[in-house]
Order: sequence, then structure tokens, then C-alpha cells
Amino acid sequence: MVYAASVNPIDVRTRGGYGAALLNKARRVKPGDEFPLTLGRDCSGVVVDVGKGVKDVAVDDEVWTSVNAVKAGCHAEYVVCGMEELSRKPKNLTHIEAASIPYVAITNWSAAYAVAKFRPQNALGKRALIFGGSGGIGTFGVQLLNAWGANVTVTCSENAFDLMYRLGAHHAVDYKSPNILQELLKHGKYDFILNAATEAVEDLAIKVIKEKAYAKYVTLITPFLNEIDKKGPLLGGLSSSLELFKKSRKFAGAGATFRWAFAQPNGFALKEVAKLAEDGKIKPAIDEVFDYQDLPLAFKKVENGHTRGKVVVNVAGESAKGFERGAPELFQ
Ligand SMILES: NC(=O)c1ccc[n+]([C@@H]2O[C@H](COP(=O)([O-])OP(=O)(O)OC[C@H]3O[C@@H](n4cnc5c(N)ncnc54)[C@H](OP(=O)(O)O)[C@@H]3O)[C@@H](O)[C@H]2O)c1
Repeated sequence: MVYAASVNPIDVRTRGGYGAALLNKARRVKPGDEFPLTLGRDCSGVVVDVGKGVKDVAVDDEVWTSVNAVKAGCHAEYVVCGMEELSRKPKNLTHIEAASIPYVAITNWSAAYAVAKFRPQNALGKRALIFGGSGGIGTFGVQLLNAWGANVTVTCSENAFDLMYRLGAHHAVDYKSPNILQELLKHGKYDFILNAATEAVEDLAIKVIKEKAYAKYVTLITPFLNEIDKKGPLLGGLSSSLELFKKSRKFAGAGATFRWAFAQPNGFALKEVAKLAEDGKIKPAIDEVFDYQDLPLAFKKVENGHTRGKVVVNVAGESAKGFERGAPELFQ
């Protein structure tokens, strides 16, 4: 049973048809037959039933999940999920707090841990840069990389600097600064760069990444689903692969590595992140909580694109006291 869910940019885009060509193929439905489509990629809630053979969770357990984009989502009273998509939620977080984390957690995990192989075992003292520090991805990413021992720089607007430092950023750089290149290079080049902002940062990234094959630039901003929507799976797949090849060569020319990353359901990552949250190393960064009936307003807020952290929807009516406007501890 869903207690609280979050709204991510992917929900806003999916509402507008983004990804439909590929997702409908995976859903094995004809275009148009996917409706009514339930959006919402993540939530926190309570188990009300389990399938045969499920041993790790039981009825009444509190869990959090980020579900595969092919399936019905979490903007609902109930969602069906597999063990590979969930774990127990952190005991110290309310459902509203917990709901802000799973999707951005699995996306950061996919980009850093799985794609860049930037992990707790090798991140200590390494330099990481996140383009887009103040959004949902960045506010989680800065905490995860910091918890793994990395030295983290973020780009964001100046009015988000304070939030970023509270979340553990070592340096924050204004993305509108005319001296952004010099400011990013002030403390040296980077071992790992995550782009959660815009494709436009790529030229900058290539100038600030270390000239090492292990140094990875991982971007969440990919043309893949858009190209397939426009040109179909074959031509769209081909044109985006060509784009990937060109960019990989460009970064290889600068001595580094270029990669795309995508959100991947990951129960293991959620379990690890739950431990970090219980240890106080990951905190929910919530911009605003909306009542379930105000879901369209929550979509509007995410669509406007200037959120600080996450937008959460209170589905089951848990007390949202303290979250009427922002998470006080981080946003005061
Ligand atoms: N590939 C995948 O599977 C995947 C998964 C998750 C997310 N994504 C993508 O990753 C991006 C980030 O997601 P999100 O959830 O963090 O989005 P978000 O929460 O909507 O991001 C909003 C934040 O981005 C900041 N921002 C906008 N332009 C910026 C720039 N040029 N430089 C630095 N910061 C900038 C805004 O700051 P200001 O208000 O100060 O402008 C705002 O705080 C989105 O495009 C999303 O679609 C991809």
C-alpha cells in the first residue's frame, strides 16, 4: 500500500508521450492501449500481500521501492513490485521522507556504482563533480558520493549554495558564472563527473575531467528514448548509437571515458542506501509535499524545473507536519 510517492521529471515527460515507442513494445501493447497509464516511479509504503516464495519481506513490513518504467507506477493506492525493486525502508524516516529517495537513489547508483565503477572501495579522496546539484538527482548524489569519501563539487544557482553545503558538498559553483571553467578547475580536475543538468555542459566537462581512461563522464541526459519515439526502434536505436560513438571518441581524445546511464530497478542499492540513511549519512531533501488530490500541482512544480530536492505526494494522509514548505533542517 502506497503511503507517499514522489514526482520526477520522467513522470512529466512520460505524461507527454516520452518513451512511449519503446515502453509500449516492452509492455506488449499497441500505441494507445497503455491507457490508463499510472505514473510514479517510486514510493514508500507497507506490504499488504506477498507472492508464493517471498521470504525477505512480509505483510505489514514498511518498504520503499522504485519500480520499472514498463509497469504501472506508484501514483496510486497500491503498487505491485518485485523483490528486485524494493527493500525495507529506513526505520528513522517517515514514509513522506522515504518516498523522496528511491528513484534518485537507483539512478545515482546506476551512474556512479554500476556505470562509472565509482564506489565506496575506491572513491575516498577522489574528486567528483555533479552538474545539477540542487535538483532531485544532485541533492541525493552529493550525499552518496560524500558518504563514499569523495570530494564533491556541484554546479547550481548561487541561492542553492547553502543547501548544497548542508548536504555535504565541498565546493559549489554557480552554473551561470562567466568564470565557471576557472572556478571548476580551482581545486584540480575530476575523476568522476555526473551530468544531471543539460547536454550543453559537455564541452565544459571535457575540459575539467582528468586525462585518464578510468576518469568517467556519465550523463543522464541521453537522446535514446527521444530518438526511438521519433524514428522507431531500429533507426532511432541506430542514430543514438552513432551519437554515443561520436561522443565516446571525443572524450577518448581527451584521455577520458564517456558513458550514458539510466535508472535501473535495484533492491540491493535501496538496501545499502537505507543503511546510509539510518546512519544519518543520507537525508531526505524535500522541496514540497502535496496532498494526493493535488497531484497535478506537484506535476506543475516539477515541470517548472526549479525545485530544490524532491517533490513528494502524500497518498495515505500521513502527517506532513514540518514539510508544509521544505524540510526545515536543510532548507532553513
Ligand atoms: N537517464 C535516466 O534514467 C534519468 C534518470 C533520472 C533523471 N534523469 C534526468 O536527469 C535530469 C535531472 O533530474 P532531476 O530529478 O534532478 O531534475 P530536477 O529535480 O527537476 O532538477 C531541477 C534542478 O536542476 C537545476 N538546473 C537546471 N539547469 C541547470 C544547469 N544548467 N546547471 C545546474 N543546475 C541546473 C535547477 O536549478 P535552478 O532552479 O537554479 O535553475 C533545479 O534545482 C533531468 O533531465 C532528468 O530527466 C535521467
